[in-house]
Amino acid sequence: MLRTHTCGELRSSHLGTEVALCGWVDRVRDHKGVIFIDLRDRWGRTQLVVGPESPPAMLAAAREVRAEWVIRARGAVGGRPVGTTNPKLATGEIEVVCRELDVLNEAETPVFQPGATELPGEEVRLKHRWLDLRRPAMQDNMFLRSRIVKIMRDHFDELGFIDVETPMLGRSTPEGARDYLVPSRLDHGAFFALPQSPQLYKQLLMMAGFDRYVQVAKCFRDEDLRADRQPEFTQLDVEMSFVEADDVIGVIEGLVKRTAREILGLDVPLPLPRLTWDDCMERFGHDAPDLRFGLEIVDLTAIAGESDFRVFRGAVESGGRVRGIRVPGAAAKFSRKDLDELTAVAVDGGAKGLVWLKVEADGSWSGPVAKNLTGVADPLKAKLGCEAGDLALIVADSFEVTCKALHMLRKRLGAALGLYDVNAMHFSWVVDFPMFAPDTESGGWASMHHPFTAPRPADIEILESDPAACRAVAYDLVINGSEAGGGTIRIHDGATQEKVFKLLGITAETARERFGFLLDALRSGAPPHGGIALGIDRWVMLFGKLDSIRDVIAFPKTQKASDLMTGAPSTVDTKQLVELGIRTVVPPKPV
Ligand code: AMO
Ligand code: AMP
Repeated sequence: MLRTHTCGELRSSHLGTEVALCGWVDRVRDHKGVIFIDLRDRWGRTQLVVGPESPPAMLAAAREVRAEWVIRARGAVGGRPVGTTNPKLATGEIEVVCRELDVLNEAETPVFQPGATELPGEEVRLKHRWLDLRRPAMQDNMFLRSRIVKIMRDHFDELGFIDVETPMLGRSTPEGARDYLVPSRLDHGAFFALPQSPQLYKQLLMMAGFDRYVQVAKCFRDEDLRADRQPEFTQLDVEMSFVEADDVIGVIEGLVKRTAREILGLDVPLPLPRLTWDDCMERFGHDAPDLRFGLEIVDLTAIAGESDFRVFRGAVESGGRVRGIRVPGAAAKFSRKDLDELTAVAVDGGAKGLVWLKVEADGSWSGPVAKNLTGVADPLKAKLGCEAGDLALIVADSFEVTCKALHMLRKRLGAALGLYDVNAMHFSWVVDFPMFAPDTESGGWASMHHPFTAPRPADIEILESDPAACRAVAYDLVINGSEAGGGTIRIHDGATQEKVFKLLGITAETARERFGFLLDALRSGAPPHGGIALGIDRWVMLFGKLDSIRDVIAFPKTQKASDLMTGAPSTVDTKQLVELGIRTVVPPKPV
């Protein structure tokens, strides 16, 4: 072994012990001829000392070493002189007095110092990811990820789940995104699709009799990226036979409790609160609401319908809604400029504008449209529950636009006004989703989750006659306003599955061509089954209180779905394209 201990291990109890340490040079200081080297590895940092009385060769070597060089030091553990201990460092009471110092590898001056407090922009960090991953904060994130995945694996293993790997090269599994395609060399013009999720395979494993399946599964979705989305991400994918929604929810609640306890020392009371989708949209305008704070949406449509105000009347007469939020005590906190910014947030959410009103000390409304409220001023105030000093924000539009705009305003206000404890964790379930959402492109229906989701038994009758009203046996896990998981009970009979395909505009012929294997399997003894998938990256982000999904993935992609370190995606040489029978429209650049 090159070393006897790690850089995070030595304590006062080791005083006098002869040790050998290996690691990266974090910092070198020459203090009146005494050289101090902070040596870093994944476990921590240890101070090495090279005194002026050391052999000249070693002194010279110590003067030579630079940040990020890889070295090995041998020596005895000594106590740090009084006044020079570092209580912030686990090894802060000791130092290693060097007897021997070997340079294992030199390093060119790094683009940035992993130990520095000032970081370069994210582009530089991503390009030199190996350096970025040397930073203790990034290492903590990766260890946190590893611990969370271990808890997940243990949990499911103890419950008798079998871990099965499903293929990466397969047929499209629709989850609402575009597929990443892989061309076939042996069958020109044919493509594999990388899985958007292992959905169909895990259902087939239930039909094969495995009963309880789990997998840490890579998923690929070519969709617009955001702070909490990656084109390649990881799910903790679960499927169970002979279950109802409550059984799946129960297993996940056990995992939530265990993870919160082991990672954060938090006791999460079970069962977790459940909200219906309708309730979520009415009260928060979103299906993954942040429930760490209030600011609930109030429906003002009936009152607004009595008003002469053009903006209110217009929305009501065209079948829309007028909805608002009361922001307690916020009237004095928002300047005209702040309110313009809030208006811009609402407009971003699709609204045509934002009505803002403040309640003055005498109880009257003020604001640019206060004079338009003749006849409805008091009822509006009563319905919103507004008092002197409060601010009201109102949007008039279709239900969907009021939802989106008010949700965005709620999010902005919650953060801006510090309405929640950033360390709080709020877990909840959203249930009873609609089966279908209108598909704006085709004018027909699209699945709210995926086409394999079962309707509520009570709604099977209206599946074809009133798809809009049909609710699914679906459940999403929401943590602090983020969708941390989603699952459903599946359709387990071929006839219902065919009906759903038809409603989604998939002809019987296409259904047979794309999903024939599923339809056959459903007719060959399929047990009732259901499951869920948790977004592992999001779990780590949320449990680690991190803002970016890229900070919990070792080698992530940028918002433009590229890998700055390896330069992927890249052009390939013509020979490869010819082998694959592919001609690109953009001429390939020389590699
Ligand atoms: P769903 O599409 O809801 O369900 O995905 C499950 C969970 O995966 C996470 N997630 C993502 N994380 C990072 N980047 C992305 N692009 C991304 N997309 C999704 C979310 C989400 O809740 N087959 C179904 C599950 C099932 O029905 O069992 C599915 O994939 O946290
Ligand atoms: P306008 O007469 O269009 O300038 O609108 C008067 C006020 O109402 C402005 O403050 C707009 O921001 C606001 N407003 C306009 N349309 C809407 C709407 N659909 N919902 C809420 N406020 C709106």
